[in-house]
Amino acid sequence: MAETKGDADTVSDFMGGKVVARLFQLFAERPWLLAAGIVLSIIAGLLAFAPHAAIFALYGRLAQGSFTQFSATSIAMAGFALLALRWFFTWAAMFLAHVLAFDIQKKLRLRLADRMLKAPMHQLLERSSGDVRATVITDVDSLEDGLAHLLPDIVGASVSLLTVFGIFVFIDWRLALAAIASVIVGFVCLGLLAGGQSKGINKYFALKAETDAMTTEYVKALPVLRIFNAGDGAMKRINDLIDQFKDVAMKVAVDATTSHTAFLVFLTSNVLLLAPIGYALVQSGGVTPLEFAFVLIFSIGFGDACLSFLNGLVQRFGTLSGVVGRIDDLIALKQLPEPVAPKKPTGVDITFDDVSFKYNEQPVLKDVSFTISPGERIALVGPSGSGKSTMARLIPRFMDVDKGAIKIGGVDVRQIKNDDLGDVVSFVFQEVFLFSETIRHNIEIGRPGATQEEIEDAARRAQAHSFISELPDGYNTRLREGGQGLSLGQKQRLSIARAILKNAPVLILDEATAYADPENEARVRAALSELSKDKTVLMIAHRLRSITDVDRIFVLENGHIVQTGPHQDLSTREGLYQRLWRSQQTEEAA
Ligand SMILES: Nc1ncnc2c1ncn2[C@@H]1O[C@H](COP(=O)(O)OP(=O)(O)OP(=O)(O)O)[C@@H](O)[C@H]1O
Ligand SMILES: [Mg+2]
Repeated sequence: MAETKGDADTVSDFMGGKVVARLFQLFAERPWLLAAGIVLSIIAGLLAFAPHAAIFALYGRLAQGSFTQFSATSIAMAGFALLALRWFFTWAAMFLAHVLAFDIQKKLRLRLADRMLKAPMHQLLERSSGDVRATVITDVDSLEDGLAHLLPDIVGASVSLLTVFGIFVFIDWRLALAAIASVIVGFVCLGLLAGGQSKGINKYFALKAETDAMTTEYVKALPVLRIFNAGDGAMKRINDLIDQFKDVAMKVAVDATTSHTAFLVFLTSNVLLLAPIGYALVQSGGVTPLEFAFVLIFSIGFGDACLSFLNGLVQRFGTLSGVVGRIDDLIALKQLPEPVAPKKPTGVDITFDDVSFKYNEQPVLKDVSFTISPGERIALVGPSGSGKSTMARLIPRFMDVDKGAIKIGGVDVRQIKNDDLGDVVSFVFQEVFLFSETIRHNIEIGRPGATQEEIEDAARRAQAHSFISELPDGYNTRLREGGQGLSLGQKQRLSIARAILKNAPVLILDEATAYADPENEARVRAALSELSKDKTVLMIAHRLRSITDVDRIFVLENGHIVQTGPHQDLSTREGLYQRLWRSQQTEEAA
């Protein structure tokens, strides 16, 4: 199978530094931006000491008795100028870091979209949709902020730290040690406690994803749960999960607070050692009082620098490593291999040649063979779980067959380039996929670059133009996540408009099982018949009444095609189709 390029870090690798390397690798894709960002952050970090320098200079004048109106004013002005510069450089560093972060975010988003397009669909479907959505939307969103602040925070803080420590050592190494001893003890404390926490944090994120996913599913399934009075059981499972999550979250929070407080105590207690050691050194003449004063003043800044270093490093890295890990997990999904010597299909007939397919180890399709001629309209029917959607998904290669071959225009779909296959086949899903973008964009996905007229024409033919026009912003209306606020029928018509715009010669329809109301159903059906004009069509139908006029019907049972023929034949012949037909007629009569 296709190799993934070794970028599958996970949260647990964080401590091993893999994620740090991965983040650096991401940053390094724009080396000049990265370098400029680092240089600006270094300058900003150095300038952060302007107030301290000013105070030190004032103190020096005071101690030497040369404190005049002029020196006070000039030091104040110089200090102010340095501060203004500091904020300018901080701003510039932040700006570059944001540009860099947006760039990385965009690349990852595109890479993610590309991978998800090329990953076998069932791998994605196996993950709960809440999980995938959380990664694609929330994680990628949070990446920008995290990455943008990482660089200025960490570089700025470590520059301050190193500079000050360097000056301390230059003055006297014993004073330098006294100044950082408490900080070192603080860090050791923190390290010990944090070591015990990483597992908790991993668990926190795992549980959070699970809770989110389950809540999403619960909300989606509400109508079903209500009808079957099964809400209590599901609610209890969610409750248990939330309780568990709360416990873990509390533990993570308490642990973090404890270690953080201990750290703060040690971090700010360097005066304890500095005072006696400084006194001894000044007495013995090892350092001048002015030098001692310098270390005293700057050791305050030193603690602050350590603190922002800690904040930048632990917090941002902690979250980022989780985010990057989850994104990379998705990116690392197995890809469907692209053909080495691609061929273009010459026709639009579809052939299943002895096709078998299984999910994991569960066989779903068994030795299925048939041919659909160009322009033929085929309906696929059968009991729920018989493998209809699976059969449909194999044609555009949402996954690959285990045995046999599927051919379009005589060419094995595995030998057709993904892009070419995408041009030939349109797929209208049982579930509608809409993006939190404008309506125009959601339709345009069918054929990127289409003009407004073409988009409107497609919408009109999909019976969607009138409801779109009634929206306050028309085609520029931004959809909320998953198209919330639109009716199911409206969402379906949008996705049909998309397919009409795409106008691929082969059309696969996985019909919705439920319609909101008869009017919507009529409109969706009208849109679908407009879409299927002059195409080779394979439609999965649940209501047999809607497919009585197709050329042929394939009846699927347990992964086998058990009957084929037009409605007239099948409904008068003993068999599964007749049973399904009769039971639906009885239902409709009732
Ligand atoms: N991603 C998946 N991973 C594992 N098993 C799956 C997956 N998708 C479907 N299945 C299983 O494969 C079998 C066939 O599913 P499929 O969705 O093709 O049925 P269907 O005929 O379309 O049913 P329906 O009429 O309910 O839509 C079912 O037993 C189902 O549980
Ligand atoms: Mg199905």
